[in-house]
Amino acid sequence: MKVHQKAVPFFLALIGGIVCQDYYPEMRYQEEDYSFSVYGPSSPNCAPECNCPYNYPTAMYCDELKLKSIPMVPPGIKYLYLRNNMIESIEEKAFENVTDLQWLILDHNHLENSKIKGKVFSKLKQLKKLHINYNNLTEVVGPLPKTLQDLQLAHNKISKISSNYLDGLVNLTFVNLQRNQLKAEAISGAFKGLKSLEYLDLSFNQLTKLPTGLPASLMMLYFDNNKISNIPDEYFKNFNVLQHLRFSHNELSDAGIPGNTFNVSSLIELDLSYNKLKSIPTVNENLENYYLEVNEIEKFAVSSFCKVLGPLSYSKVKHLRLDGNKIKRSNLPPEMYECLRVANDIALE
Ligand SMILES: *[C@@H]1O[C@H](CO)[C@@H](O)[C@H](O)[C@H]1NC(C)=O
Ligand SMILES: *[C@@H]1O[C@H](CO)[C@@H](O)[C@H](O)[C@H]1NC(C)=O
Ligand SMILES: *[C@@H]1O[C@H](CO)[C@@H](O)[C@H](O)[C@H]1NC(C)=O
Ligand SMILES: *[C@@H]1O[C@H](CO)[C@@H](O)[C@H](O)[C@H]1NC(C)=O
Repeated sequence: MKVHQKAVPFFLALIGGIVCQDYYPEMRYQEEDYSFSVYGPSSPNCAPECNCPYNYPTAMYCDELKLKSIPMVPPGIKYLYLRNNMIESIEEKAFENVTDLQWLILDHNHLENSKIKGKVFSKLKQLKKLHINYNNLTEVVGPLPKTLQDLQLAHNKISKISSNYLDGLVNLTFVNLQRNQLKAEAISGAFKGLKSLEYLDLSFNQLTKLPTGLPASLMMLYFDNNKISNIPDEYFKNFNVLQHLRFSHNELSDAGIPGNTFNVSSLIELDLSYNKLKSIPTVNENLENYYLEVNEIEKFAVSSFCKVLGPLSYSKVKHLRLDGNKIKRSNLPPEMYECLRVANDIALE
């Protein structure tokens, strides 16, 4: 029995394709839309309309049932799935019998902030995952329990996160706020105390500049599809573990990027595609994937990749995209190959 319970999260993670390193979270939602009938007969104390797989009785599946409210949740349930319903409200006592709930998945419902009653989430003293993607939230939900690790509120209409909302969430690792209505001023300082935060997705919002106070623990940071035109000097200076950084579809120009902005030695992937760059921003030699397609780049300076050339000093760039710019293969300087020694894919025109 113990073994089974431990195996559940991993098993569900595989089926659901819930992987933190998944760079395109939208694709994930489609993969999650499987039928729960694969789990076989339901265990006896389950809510009658839902399915609690006999072999995984701590999980309750209530997806796609046209539910308008939270069904009865029997004691013992740790993983609760309520996706693709029409749930508009959550009553204060909805989870009174399952205060040790660990995962609560509410994607694709009609939840509004005013109809989530009381401190319904902070009473869940074991909660690790809270997903309320694709709902009708205009504000963040809360207060949240300190145990939370994964918070997903993508595809809502959230326009503000107050600076103390996430205070004390020491284990919060993964935050997805993609496709909301956030502006930089409205999230300033909101993430500052989050010592475990590794993944933050703020793409498809209304940022015109970068928020202040992001924690240096971040490994993946996504700002695609905003209106960011400049990056403050030394913004990424203390980001010693940042590996994936994305700014595609913004309004960055050369003047908006101070010289050493992207010379971050931990960076593996940098996406600056679909901006207004005329030259190639300097990057660290450790960078492996550099996306610059659809800008206005007209010259190729080797010094953007290598300050000095030598037997041990060369760029680790493997994939470089320069297509959709004003540069042709004949513009590439011959000494480039001494620097970009391991590049096996340079896309032009
Ligand atoms: C909690 O359990 C009690 C006793 O079984 C039951 O009467 C009540 O309806 C349950 N509450 C919810 C919200 O499911
Ligand atoms: C969301 O809220 C708006 C405005 O209150 C309403 O018009 C709309 O129908 C709601 N959408 C859903 C999916 O509940
Ligand atoms: C945070 O995670 C650590 C390590 O898993 C755990 O010992 C600690 O209790 C957690 N803190 C909270 C507030 O859940
Ligand atoms: C990046 O910064 C390091 C020092 O932190 C420096 O040695 C290196 O030359 C810089 N790289 C480029 C391409 O300017």
